[in-house]
Amino acid sequence: MLNYQLIAYCWLCIGLLVFVLLLFIKAPYGRHTRTGWGPMIDNRLGWVLMELVVLGILLYFVWHGENAISLPIAVILALFAAHYIHRSLIFPFALHTKGKKMPLLIMLMAVGFNTMNGYLLGWYFGNLANYPSNWLWDPHFLLGLALFLMGMGINIWSDYHLIALRKPGETGYKIPEGGLFRYISCPNHFGEILEWTGFAVLNWSLPGLIFAIWTFANLAPRALAHHRWYREKFVDYPKERKALIPGVW
Ligand SMILES: NC(=O)c1ccc[n+]([C@@H]2O[C@H](COP(=O)([O-])OP(=O)(O)OC[C@H]3O[C@@H](n4cnc5c(N)ncnc54)[C@H](OP(=O)(O)O)[C@@H]3O)[C@@H](O)[C@H]2O)c1
Repeated sequence: MLNYQLIAYCWLCIGLLVFVLLLFIKAPYGRHTRTGWGPMIDNRLGWVLMELVVLGILLYFVWHGENAISLPIAVILALFAAHYIHRSLIFPFALHTKGKKMPLLIMLMAVGFNTMNGYLLGWYFGNLANYPSNWLWDPHFLLGLALFLMGMGINIWSDYHLIALRKPGETGYKIPEGGLFRYISCPNHFGEILEWTGFAVLNWSLPGLIFAIWTFANLAPRALAHHRWYREKFVDYPKERKALIPGVW
């Protein structure tokens, strides 16, 4: 338990460091892909490999843990699995990024992130979690679930809206309109942060909180970089649009 907490807090500190680094160094994938980051791999394959790992690791630790899988734990794990089955096995095949590559290093770093996340959550649910049987009616769970589902809906709708901007064969970028794009440049990132914040609230745990903070650390700097990039690339980019948080930032 002591070792687990120590690892978790060290991982949290690394996440805060990563946040600061990413404010200065744009993660080189998607529109920010550039050379000088070593060997490259196919973009779609990269997404599948880096996102599939977390479910396997989480389930390994849950399966080998001492806890019985109660109904609340099963429901929480099902929500997590729903996100990652979509992210690793459906989303990559919807992308209109044929021929595009990402640095192998980015994929490996994401595998590292997902491995730690899978371990921390899997160990927690497999050994430490102890939810009463009526947890599914607890205000934490209900509020967290509402945020999780809202975030997931915003994330998926925005991702597919962006993907649909490219007709088959197109490779460039357009100004996205509609939905939350009216207010912010990156509603997909906003939705993902909201989703994992909701997940942290609904399971009310240290690894859940750390995962939400890591998601913010990864995505808030990316949203800022995307926002700056849109403003530089499109002279007619809507001036009132913010980067990540409607009306604020
Ligand atoms: N939990 C985490 O820590 C974490 C970390 C990273 C990503 N994610 C999630 O993974 C998903 C993808 O992330 P991302 O940062 O790669 O998203 P993104 O940069 O917004 O790109 C999403 C997709 O839409 C395309 N696209 C984006 N803007 C476009 C435009 N203006 N015109 C035409 N096509 C456009 C991109 O093509 P290109 O690839 O060619 O740019 C890509 O295929 C998001 O849902 C994000 O929340 C989560």
